[in-house]
Amino acid sequence: MRVLVTGGSGFIGSHTVVSLLEAGHDPVVVDNLSNASRSVLTRIGEIAGRQPEFHEADIRDRDTMGSIAASGFDACIHFAALKAVAESVEEPMLYYDNNVGGTIALLEVLVASDITTFVFSSSATVYGDPNKLPVTEDMPTGVATNPYGWTKIMMEQILRDVQGANPDWSVSLLRYFNPVGAHPSGLIGEEPRGTPNNLMPYVAKVAAGELARLSVFGGDYPTSDGTGVRDYIHVVDLAEGHVAALNTHVGDAGVHTYNLGTGKGSSVLEVLHSYENACGKSIPYEVVERRAGDVAANWADVTRAESVLGWKTTRDLADMCADSWRWQQRTR
Ligand code: NAD
Ligand code: UFG
Repeated sequence: MRVLVTGGSGFIGSHTVVSLLEAGHDPVVVDNLSNASRSVLTRIGEIAGRQPEFHEADIRDRDTMGSIAASGFDACIHFAALKAVAESVEEPMLYYDNNVGGTIALLEVLVASDITTFVFSSSATVYGDPNKLPVTEDMPTGVATNPYGWTKIMMEQILRDVQGANPDWSVSLLRYFNPVGAHPSGLIGEEPRGTPNNLMPYVAKVAAGELARLSVFGGDYPTSDGTGVRDYIHVVDLAEGHVAALNTHVGDAGVHTYNLGTGKGSSVLEVLHSYENACGKSIPYEVVERRAGDVAANWADVTRAESVLGWKTTRDLADMCADSWRWQQRTR
C-alpha cells in the first residue's frame, strides 16, 4: 500500500514508517519539521534498507497537501500534532489551530482526493479520569484537563462525523497509552525539546547525569506503592499496531476504535527501578506534590486489539528501559 504519513519524522511516526517499510508498504512522509529533524529520514533508511519519499510541508497548507495527495494513496496515517500538555495550557489557540484546524484541512484534501482509509493517533487521555480499570473502548470519553487533551476528544468526534457523512470511509481511532522506548538499533527515538515533561525521557536524562534527580509527582495515590500507575508500551510494538490496523481495516467502511497498550500498569517507582537495572546505576529521586491534572492510574483493556487485529505487545518494561537507555547514550 502507498500510505501518506503525516508527522512521519516524529517519535511514533518514524518507528511506524520503519514498520511499514519492513512490511513491504510504501510510506510517503509529510512533516513540517516543527518537532523533528531531517536526519531521521536517513536513519530510517539505515534501519529499513530504503528511505521513504519525504515532503517538508505543513498539513494546514491545503494547496501543497492537495498536490501531494493527487499522486494517489491507499490510506493516510495521521500523526502530525503538537503534544506538549503544559504548552497547550499557555498557547491554546496554537494547539486548536495546529491539531484541530490541521486535521480539518487534511480531511478536506483527502475527501477531495478520494483517499478513504484513515488511521488516527488518539490517546488514552480521551478517557479523562476513568471510573473503572482497565479502560475499555466502549467507555464514554471523559473531561480533558488541558487543551491538548480536548484536541484529541474533538478530533475523534470530527472523525466520527466525517465518517458518517462519507459512509465508505474507514476510520481507525488508535488510543495510545504511554509510548516509550526507542528502536533497538539506537538510531531513532524520542528527542524532547528542552527539559522532558514525561517520565521515561526525564529518567533517562537523570541516568545520563544531565538532570540531578527525578521528582516523583505524588506518593499518596491509592496504588500499590502510592505513585502513579500507567500502561507503558514500547514504541516498536505501537508501530506494529498501526500496520495491523491498516492491514485489517483498509477499505473497511466504519469507525474502528482500539486501545493500544500492554494491558499492564506500572508505577513510577517500578519504572525507575527497571531503568536502574537497564543502566546499571542508581537514579536519585524525591517524592514531591502531585502534578495538577494527573490521574492515579490508567491502563488498557487490550482484548479488542488482540482479537480483531491479531496484534499484541511482545516487549516488556525491561526492553523499554534498555532501548531507551541505548538511545540516550547515542544522543549524548
Ligand atoms: P512528535 O512531536 O515526535 O511527532 C509529531 C510530528 O508531527 C513531528 O515530527 C512534527 O514536526 C510534526 N508536525 C506537527 N505539526 C505539524 C503540521 N502542522 N504539519 C506537518 N507536520 C507537523 O510526537 P509523537 O510522540 O510522535 O506523537 C505522534 C502523535 O501521537 C501525535 O498526534 C500525538 O498527539 C499522539 N500521541 C502521542 C503520545 C505520546 O506520549 N508520545 C501519546 C498519545 C498520543
Ligand atoms: N511523573 C513523575 N515525574 C515526572 C514525570 C512524570 O512522577 O517528572 C509521573 C506522572 O505523575 C505519572 C507518570 O509519571 O504518574 C507518567 O507521566 P507522563 O508525563 O510520562 O505520562 P502521562 O500519563 O501523564 O501523560 C500522558 C501522555 C500525554 C497525555 C497525558 C494525559 O504522555 O500526551 O497522558 O493524561 F496528554
